[in-house]
Amino acid sequence: MDLENPVTEQMSEERAGEQLWTAVDRYISERLLVSDPALDAALQASASAGLPAIAVSPNQGKLLYLLARIQGARSILELGTLGGFSTIWLARALPADGALLTLEVDPRYAEVARENIAGAGLADRVELRVGPALDALAQLDAENGGPFDLIFIDADKQSIPEYFQWALKLSRRGSVIVTDNVIRDGSLLDAGSEDPRVLGTRRFHDLLAGESRVNATTIQTVGLKGYDGFTLALVEEPA
Ligand code: SAH
Ligand code: DHB
Ligand code: MG
Repeated sequence: MDLENPVTEQMSEERAGEQLWTAVDRYISERLLVSDPALDAALQASASAGLPAIAVSPNQGKLLYLLARIQGARSILELGTLGGFSTIWLARALPADGALLTLEVDPRYAEVARENIAGAGLADRVELRVGPALDALAQLDAENGGPFDLIFIDADKQSIPEYFQWALKLSRRGSVIVTDNVIRDGSLLDAGSEDPRVLGTRRFHDLLAGESRVNATTIQTVGLKGYDGFTLALVEEPA
């Protein structure tokens, strides 16, 4: 430790840490993921179209795929499509007659996602609805949509608690709800934060603490996407 300049030292240690997480993520994906032209093309097309590089990492995508397989999911709901990278991972876990509904507010992102999903040969299993997720969820409930076997919450972070409550309503006993980006560099500990995204992750954990209808844990993660985490929840009793 450089006692003259502890702050700089700490920051360079963090950078070294991030490089190591990224290298280990690559080590894992090189061994455990098979090369996948449709997923590679989806990332390429998303980057070319100027979409932000915030999709789940390949190793996280595989986790979503495995969770859906373990769950035997036949119906999946996703909030936040972006370019369809996580959508493709999840839809690949479905049986031929399974269905995935994904919600995206940005029509430009949705257009890119549609192409990527079609390119992966999954257009028959995936429906994409464009618009604010809260509106789509209310609409879905009014249509008597669901219940879904697995729900992936990955849209805007300030509304996570509201999304989770809708997810609980669109669930059955045994549904699985995965919520992304709930740690955000540990910012969820910042009790004084006024950032609506941080408030979202904190309100979410307060909600879970008082919610006996779900059994949940939050797992911290490091890797390609830095330091973050996700919540895994099993629905014991739908809302
Ligand atoms: N699930 C994607 C990443 C999603 S990024 C993947 O891992 O590949 C978050 C997405 O949520 C962005 O595309 C953003 O446009 C979308 N989003 C933000 N606010 C939203 C809202 N109110 N309703 C629906 N989607 C929203
Ligand atoms: C952001 C969104 C995500 O879903 C994610 O995994 C990382 C970052 C974002 O909006 O910045
Ligand atoms: Mg995310």
